[in-house]
Formats: sequence, structure tokens, C-alpha cells
Amino acid sequence: MYEAIQIVHSYWAYLVVLVVTLATINGIFGVITKREYAPKDFRISLFALIVTHLQLLIGIIIFFVSPKVLWFNSGVSASEIMGDPLLRLYNVEHPFTMILMVVFITVGYSKHKKKLTSTPKFKQIAIFYTIAWILMLSRIPWSEWF
Ligand code: HEM
Repeated sequence: MYEAIQIVHSYWAYLVVLVVTLATINGIFGVITKREYAPKDFRISLFALIVTHLQLLIGIIIFFVSPKVLWFNSGVSASEIMGDPLLRLYNVEHPFTMILMVVFITVGYSKHKKKLTSTPKFKQIAIFYTIAWILMLSRIPWSEWF
């Protein structure tokens, strides 16, 4: 079961990185060009929300079954986990930062929906999705992933 979830989490991450990147760029260009907000803009923002929420669910499951998460192993102390950069990444930084990034996506999405005109809509996406994008890229285990 662990192997299957690990593969899904690993491959789904490509889609998450791609879609969040596109939605962020789309929001920034929308602000810069001041163009009309169109149905395709709604779709890409929504798609980013959906793929990140699914990855969040898969991430929460893998947290409890991964051999790289040592919180549930007796005999491994918190200081051992915090003292090792890779263990700290998998046990603390990656889960915490990714949950925060999904919060930013969710808040940005719901704030943009409440705005009634085009540029303020794009502005909410540009601000919140850019923060989420930076958070996401900062805590992906790049060296282990590729
Ligand atoms: C939502 C955005 C997320 C993205 C883009 C993401 C991305 C990734 C990537 C690329 C890997 C490396 C996979 C590999 O080495 O093949 C990974 C591993 C991992 N992620 Fe996430 N993740 C996300 C959310 C989460 C969350 C919310 C949690 C936990 C609450 C989590 C827990 C883990 C764990 C425990 C591993 C190590 C799995 C293992 O190899 O045993 N992830 N993640």
C-alpha cells in the first residue's frame, strides 16, 4: 500500500507544480494586462485548487505510512529528527509548508471569487497563488524527487 501511495504522491506532484505555476502566471498576467476575466481564468484557478487539495489528502495519508516519517517510531527522538536536514524536511518542513501552501491557494481562490470585477479578481490570485507557489517550491524534496 505504501509503494502505491508513494508513486501517486510523487507523480501527482508534477501536475501540482505545473498547474499552480500556470495559474500563478495567469493571475500575474491578468493584473499586468488588465484584461477581462474569462471562464478559462476561473477554470485554471479552480483546477489549481482541486489538484492541490487532492495532493494534500494523499500527503496526509503518506505521512502515516512512510518509512521516512519517524514520529511514530519509538526510539527516535525529536532532536534526532530536527538535527538531520533530510529527516527534518520529510517530518516537519515539507508537511507543514505544503499545508500552508494549500491554505494560501484556498484563501486566494475564495477571495478572488468574491470580487466582482476583473483586475481585483486577478490581483487576489496573483498575490495568494504567488505566495503558495514560492512556499511549494521551497520545500519540495528536489534531490530525492528527480
Ligand atoms: C500539496 C502539495 C504537495 C506537494 C507538491 C508534494 C510533493 C512531494 C514530492 C515531490 C515528494 C517526493 C516524492 C519522491 O521522492 O518520489 C513528496 C514526498 C512526501 N510528501 Fe509531499 N507534497 C505535498 C503535500 C504533502 C503533505 C500535505 C504531506 C503530509 C501532511 C506530505 C508528505 C510527504 C511525505 C511523508 C513524503 C515522503 C514520502 C516517501 O517517499 O516515503 N506531502 N511530496
